[in-house]
Amino acid sequence: MPIHTLDNNYWVLETDHTAYALGVNTAGALVHAYWGERLPAPTDYPAAPDAIFHASFTGAGHMWPEEYAGLTGLKYVEPALSVSFADGVRDLVLQVVGGAVAGDTLVVTLRDAHYPLRVELHYRAYAAHDLIERWAVVHNDGAPITLERVFSAQWQMPIGRSYRLSYLSGRWIDEFQLHRQPLSPGVFVRESRRITSSHHASPWFALDDHASETHGEVWFGALAWSGNWKLAAEVTDFGRTRVSLGLNDWDFAWRLGAGERFTTPACLGGYTRDGFGAASRRLHAYVRDNVLPHGRRPHKVLYNSWEATTFSVDVESQSKLAELAAEMGAELFVMDDGWFQGRTSDDAGLGDWWPDPKKFPDGLTPLISRVNALGMDFGLWLEPEMVNPNSDLYRAHPDWVIHFATRARTESRNQLILNLARVDVQDYLITAIDALLSDHNITFIKWDMNRNVSEPGWPGAGDRQREIWVRYVEGLYRVWGTLRERHPNVVWQSCSGGGGRADLGILRLADQVWVSDNTDALSRLQIQHGYSQMLPADTMEAWVTDINAGRISLDFRFHVAMQGVLGVGGNLLHWSPAERAKAARFVAQYKEIRPIVQHGEVYRLIGPNDGSPYVVTQYVGEDRREAVIFAFRRIGGGADAMLDGYHAIDPSQPAAIQLQGLDPAARYKITGQGAVRSGLAWMRAGLTIALGHQESKILRVRQVA
Ligand code: DGJ
Repeated sequence: MPIHTLDNNYWVLETDHTAYALGVNTAGALVHAYWGERLPAPTDYPAAPDAIFHASFTGAGHMWPEEYAGLTGLKYVEPALSVSFADGVRDLVLQVVGGAVAGDTLVVTLRDAHYPLRVELHYRAYAAHDLIERWAVVHNDGAPITLERVFSAQWQMPIGRSYRLSYLSGRWIDEFQLHRQPLSPGVFVRESRRITSSHHASPWFALDDHASETHGEVWFGALAWSGNWKLAAEVTDFGRTRVSLGLNDWDFAWRLGAGERFTTPACLGGYTRDGFGAASRRLHAYVRDNVLPHGRRPHKVLYNSWEATTFSVDVESQSKLAELAAEMGAELFVMDDGWFQGRTSDDAGLGDWWPDPKKFPDGLTPLISRVNALGMDFGLWLEPEMVNPNSDLYRAHPDWVIHFATRARTESRNQLILNLARVDVQDYLITAIDALLSDHNITFIKWDMNRNVSEPGWPGAGDRQREIWVRYVEGLYRVWGTLRERHPNVVWQSCSGGGGRADLGILRLADQVWVSDNTDALSRLQIQHGYSQMLPADTMEAWVTDINAGRISLDFRFHVAMQGVLGVGGNLLHWSPAERAKAARFVAQYKEIRPIVQHGEVYRLIGPNDGSPYVVTQYVGEDRREAVIFAFRRIGGGADAMLDGYHAIDPSQPAAIQLQGLDPAARYKITGQGAVRSGLAWMRAGLTIALGHQESKILRVRQVA
């Protein structure tokens, strides 16, 4: 059994290699006791810590590591929960009622000392994944209260050490940039206020004090939420470090009526002694096994027509591209933006989800049949949450958008956001998209979202205005979830102008993510590196396009995209027969290595920020019999490399790499390396890869009998 209860007031959640312990201290507070390597016996874990008296300025509650802090007394740390009671009291005194274990889940119940407010803290252990999932449920059994902050979890670090925070930040066409930064006393906040999880920051973190990619303790976590979120990494003046993560409390208020309850999104946390690489692999396995709706189903090689035809789509233009895509070996043809009523540019049509009669006089079926006859599935682009003022939908329902009645409605890309907090809006979208999917043989939807929120008003919602942040996302989940249920074979891609909505929440609905509108292969190495910290390769849609084709070879561009779910988005009509033939060879090679790339384990052997001109990534198949190495050299040797800042390694030298993840005793052969050596030899003595300026290579690693 993975959860032990000691003395009815101390709990140890064990996973295969880790443990998380919490208990009630002598003052009656629920405090954190341990998060680290699993110890031999349940009695090995430290006692629930008590506070040490400091001075009249700071109370005990400030000092101990609470599992879920309310604010009361002389306590000034970040709270997990802030409420305002009906009588105006804003002081929360949470007392432990008790804990109950059911299978892999522990629920500890807290209750306010005076008001009938209960908080259930849920902890679920994922033994094989070495992860703990946490969420809170707030029950109000009294007069209406207002929730002003309601986080999912507070993660306490071992005391007395200095930590470094790893986080992802960026912007449109520059998502998932990995940063590592020492924490010092104070609160460092990462958040989204944009109604999506956003391009700008991702709800993921890792903490370490001296870890590397392969060694050292790392504590990490991610929030399963696709709207506004907040991470507060706090170091107290008394040497305690903790990370609080949950719904953003910025502009948030939730009225919890008598008898109502509020459930937070889930927050996942994990610990490893094997560095950042192992932390990522644990998250990846968890996502594949517990989050993705289609589990480990392989993804098809797609062709997407957006960069070739933009809004100028019709049966003829798409059929020509489809023929070339099929010749190249694509398995799925996706028609992007421009196919629906009135859509000739980005200033009209969003909301009117039926085929434009001028472009498709006989509807979509002739094109779909053509694509199917070529042996490919057909996929379609939608942007369901949006509406152009120039659309039938907006003319009929101008009140359906997010807005304040007395303010101008800020348009961005000529569009406004439908208020998915409204059930009538949700129902409209379900009906419109359900009809589209029922009437056509569509097996793939790219779900786009091309702006962030402004004037976040919800006229008619009365005193529930500020619930829009959460109810919008719940509405989105309802629409998408209902469509998934009705069309279980459709594969869905989450796109928000690239990677603006990539999180563990959306991946319960979307099978994959369009990672960035930036398809420059060199930029993509950096973006994919950041993305891989949190999410697995089978969710990472990556296209070969014509961006910088004059400077970056087709081989390099394919190799970069083959590290995720391969797609092609270039204008095939402009590719020479030789280029198309080469592309067909890459697609065929990708299909061979697809199981290893999409479902294997990733090892980042040389990352883009490691001071080397090389970037080398290895994918190891599930049974460790095969692996694939992708090696890239971004820049040639000599002065160029020095000028470009790759100083740490002599740029004239080849990449020296030690492989990882192989069976040490088994013997492996590697493309281009004459010898057959043991897995241990390839992992310790390693191999060298020499490449020229912007060259790349795929090496196959195969076990030999
Ligand atoms: C933004 C997406 O990221 C692109 O791939 C494309 O689908 C456009 N929207 C279409 O408007």
